[in-house]
Amino acid sequence: MKKVLVTTKLLKLNEDRMSKLWNVKLNLNNEIYSQNKLIELSKDCDAILSSIVDKIDEFTINKLSNSVKIISNFAVGFGNIDIKAAKEKNIIVTNTPDVLTSATAEIAMLLILGAARRASEGIKWARNKNWKWSADFLIGKQLEGSRLGILGMGRIGRAVALRAKAFGMQIHYHNRSRLKTDLEAGANYHDSIQSLFSVSDILSINCPATPETTNIINKKTLKFFPEGAIITNSARGDMIDDEATVKALISGRIFALGLDVYKGEPNMHPGYLNQPNVFILPHLGSATKKTRIAMADLAINNIEEYFKTGHCKNMVN
Ligand code: GLV
Repeated sequence: MKKVLVTTKLLKLNEDRMSKLWNVKLNLNNEIYSQNKLIELSKDCDAILSSIVDKIDEFTINKLSNSVKIISNFAVGFGNIDIKAAKEKNIIVTNTPDVLTSATAEIAMLLILGAARRASEGIKWARNKNWKWSADFLIGKQLEGSRLGILGMGRIGRAVALRAKAFGMQIHYHNRSRLKTDLEAGANYHDSIQSLFSVSDILSINCPATPETTNIINKKTLKFFPEGAIITNSARGDMIDDEATVKALISGRIFALGLDVYKGEPNMHPGYLNQPNVFILPHLGSATKKTRIAMADLAINNIEEYFKTGHCKNMVN
């Protein structure tokens, strides 16, 4: 019977399914495994079902037992795994696309709304019960009629566009390549980030973390935005130079931020906690029951398909 290491606690029905299929090592206490522990625990395993909190870098990959043939990441993003080092070691890496598109797009809308309408400040005032309604109390920005820039027009970016249109926003986007007209669905394409940022009253970051997108929001590119723009990120923390962004926020050049993801999670730049106009969430993008069950099912299917055929359609390396 094949052996599978599961590095994160899954919902019970997904763990039960896996236990029927294979000899599984579950992580019942939801401990975050160190690299050495992950190497140790997977020694006699054929597969690893990993999560975004596992740093599976070149060092870890090279130390993995030769019995490990597949790393099935319980996420659509796979920036936590060195996929090149894995390929060199003949380990396939898979992800869970599609099933989390709607849940993540919903969180992206929450970030846009929370940042634009000053929800963090509002919640604080409401809890303190010392607020007074007045015409100029907590004035935010209206979505209707504003321009939404989407950085990365993949599945999630397009799902954000669809929802934002219902709020009356005009959609602009930048992507590695222009989409076909039917996928574009009326959105305006920009062939550079400078062009996109310069029309983004609100930006939604929905691109993958790659060496090219790391710190794509930085001191220089922050200057491209209109005065008082809003930046939201439901993808990965890697894309934002935190120091430069907090400075732009303090100066008022950026009106507000909406963030679900951070560099070095669960830590974040202290400026995000100190500044009132930052709407923060703890990486909840895919956190609905429906989506988490579907993600785990897909991660399990990926391993099953690989064990049966030696291939997997959700392979990313
Ligand atoms: C979550 O962040 C994912 O990439 O699935």
